[in-house]
Amino acid sequence: MTIPYIHHFKFLNFTMPKFEVHPDISLAKTIHTDFYVDNQVFEECKEKIFAQGIHYAGDTDLLPDTGYTYPLVLLPEYLDEPVAVVRDKNDTIRCLSNVCTHRGNLLVTEPCKTSQLRCKYHGRTFTLDGQMIFMPEFTEVRDFPCSDDHLVSLPVFQWGKLIFASLNKEILPAKYFKDMMDRMSFYQVDKLVRRDDLGKDYIIAANWALYCENYLEGFHIPFVHQGLSAVLDYGDYETELYYPYSSLQLGVSKNSENTFDLPADSPDYGRHIAAYYFWIFPNMMFNFYPWGLSLNIVQPLATDLTKVSFITYMYDESKYNQGAGSDLDKVEMEDEEIVQNVQKGIRSRFYTKGRYSVSREKGTHHFHRLLASFMENT
Ligand code: FES
Ligand SMILES: [Fe+2]
Repeated sequence: MTIPYIHHFKFLNFTMPKFEVHPDISLAKTIHTDFYVDNQVFEECKEKIFAQGIHYAGDTDLLPDTGYTYPLVLLPEYLDEPVAVVRDKNDTIRCLSNVCTHRGNLLVTEPCKTSQLRCKYHGRTFTLDGQMIFMPEFTEVRDFPCSDDHLVSLPVFQWGKLIFASLNKEILPAKYFKDMMDRMSFYQVDKLVRRDDLGKDYIIAANWALYCENYLEGFHIPFVHQGLSAVLDYGDYETELYYPYSSLQLGVSKNSENTFDLPADSPDYGRHIAAYYFWIFPNMMFNFYPWGLSLNIVQPLATDLTKVSFITYMYDESKYNQGAGSDLDKVEMEDEEIVQNVQKGIRSRFYTKGRYSVSREKGTHHFHRLLASFMENT
């Protein structure tokens, strides 16, 4: 009698998804709090979510000519994947594994201009497109070189100056970027200039997903951000979901001050748009203001620890720090305080799931649905 019972139990356990969010927001409950507190889930997210996605990898100003290269770690302390971004001799921008295929030394350790990548350990040499072309003392080695001896070349996507790379060979970048690119087609992304003097990193004592889901709803603006609330028209604040992997929140101003000068063919022509807040699954936020772009990269460090890098790209400095794009540090502090309190709240034994406002929380619902579906895809 016990055997069928055990089989039945196992079967049930196997088929019940751990994370489920109903597609109908009016019926849905938020994702289970295990998502934010369970160490095993945090580890699973690494391969199931982040290794599948696309990541900011610098910009072309760092590669002014052929032969320029710089090292980069994709999501340090989480994915922790060392890569080298290269402009090869044919002017193609590449993102190569930065790990020598001999014994695993890092190849590029600082930005440089070079005609080939030569390992400082035993001299293995690669072309700028990753082909291994020379290795000392290897004449007796059989079946050498083979395809494993070349550097892995990752998919790269470029939008204006901005460079993105993915560990996922099957990635289709249009599914992440196309809607944002179409909406911002009036904007000269090539004009953006990175300003490290205006960038900042924040460390937040909360799970990365709590930080993202807070970003994805404007519901909290009147409660949490009094300053921002004075500028934005809460009644006109809108969320547009882009399927599958992005969304837009439109910050509409109460008046025409510090708003975008939009061309007649823009779908927003005639409206006072103070900010375009685009989010790309799972962890990139593109906040466009008339002065430029504040790009926020959310980096998981632990279940309850997250680093968010604010990268500043200037477009028109005369408009800097005005309107919805002003006092970003203050807005960030207000968000951090709330999100850190939520991190403490979701540990409670009396809270595992909540509900969504149908009109104000569809961005967060969309995000939770994506989290649930990536976690269930093995
Ligand atoms: S590790 Fe690079 S040549 Fe040996
Ligand atoms: Fe906020």
